[in-house]
Amino acid sequence: MISRLALSAAAIALAGSVAFAQPAATPPPPERNLQVLPRDIAQRDLINIMQSFNRALGVECSYCHVAGNFASDANGHKNIARGMLRLTQRLNRELLPEIQGLGEPRVSCFTCHRGEAQPATAPGAPPAAPHTHSGERG
Ligand code: HEC
Ligand code: HEC
Repeated sequence: MISRLALSAAAIALAGSVAFAQPAATPPPPERNLQVLPRDIAQRDLINIMQSFNRALGVECSYCHVAGNFASDANGHKNIARGMLRLTQRLNRELLPEIQGLGEPRVSCFTCHRGEAQPATAPGAPPAAPHTHSGERG
């Protein structure tokens, strides 16, 4: 009994490692590390979301991912981004719908980040454009 179980577990592990050995009805590969986004999300939709993160924060994929392993959580920015995903979902699904008189809630990463990894918290900050010269330093 135990050895039969162990054998079938080994067979499943083997099947999972061979890309085309899975039957059509099998759920997505178990090594996928999605905790907020739907596990069965289409790859194209996933990459579209990831590219929207890049644009919203003004960063590259490597800002949140360690090279060569998108499923890894070793880069701390990735887990922060997970919390931000939950925050954004909660705003749109729970908090904004409680406010009367609004249209469809559509807060996105860009709503706050505006192309910056660290969003501004106050208006009137001095311009951050790198090529602006104030003249003070000659
Ligand atoms: C701001 C941070 C951030 C950036 C930038 C980002 N990602 Fe992600 N990525 C995440 C998070 C967070 C998850 C996990 C989401 C979850 O748990 O539901 C993820 C998951 C993924 C996954 C799924 C990995 C798995 O578990 O199978 C892939 C693939 C991926 N990202 C690719 C990319 C690519 C390609 C880019 C650049 C175009 C990119 N990411 C940019 C935060 C980021
Ligand atoms: C309601 C506003 C808001 C929304 C929406 C939002 N963020 Fe943030 N985010 C912030 C603020 C504010 C900080 C800075 C927190 C701090 O360090 O004080 C931050 C910080 C971050 C950081 C860490 C930056 C760093 O290097 O310290 C990441 C990564 C991030 N956000 C990703 C995202 C992603 C991805 C989304 C969309 C899923 C998102 N955020 C949506 C407000 C927001």
